[in-house]
Amino acid sequence: MSHDRKFFDKMGLVLGLLVVFTFVIFFVAGAIIEETQNVFVMEDPTYQAELAKRIAPVARVAIAGQSDGAMPGEPEPEPVAAATSGEDIYNSSCVACHGIGIAGAPKVGDHDAWAPRIDQGLPTLYDHAINGYQGDTGMMPPKGGAMSLSDDDVKAAVDYMARLYE
Ligand code: HEC
Repeated sequence: MSHDRKFFDKMGLVLGLLVVFTFVIFFVAGAIIEETQNVFVMEDPTYQAELAKRIAPVARVAIAGQSDGAMPGEPEPEPVAAATSGEDIYNSSCVACHGIGIAGAPKVGDHDAWAPRIDQGLPTLYDHAINGYQGDTGMMPPKGGAMSLSDDDVKAAVDYMARLYE
């Protein structure tokens, strides 16, 4: 019988150690999670957004004409069209003809071709570019055919071409 007794003693010791080991692992893992996982979760942008929503003030004041459309039931603010530079407009709508001087279009930077035109003054150039122009060398279509351009866009492109002349 003493044989069995010894066996149970040893078995009890091993089981006890396993239980202790389990708790140690459990707390070590908990400590590691505290240091790493939880921090990641806190830093997650989605979590942060949710958190900000939860702690946001309940009431908000909308001032007519000044609110950013963040109130429910309010129309989204119109996206402000990115201002395009004269150079961009020239490159998208004017370069086809004016880049190398197609069909009698005065080539940008061609001093002789532009000198008499610049002499007319910018208002005339604007007018011819916006409304179209039949000259001695060819036909400048209104807005270069890009009717979606605003008058100011065309003026900016004319300014850009006039700058290249200088
Ligand atoms: C389809 C070809 C074409 C495109 C595209 C074009 N042009 Fe022209 N443009 C011409 C031609 C041809 C002339 C010369 C007309 C003439 O004097 O006989 C001209 C002339 C001009 C002149 C000089 C007008 C004057 O009074 O001498 C300006 C300024 C001008 N274009 C601006 C522009 C701008 C800005 C754009 C782009 C938004 C543009 N053009 C796109 C063909 C084009």
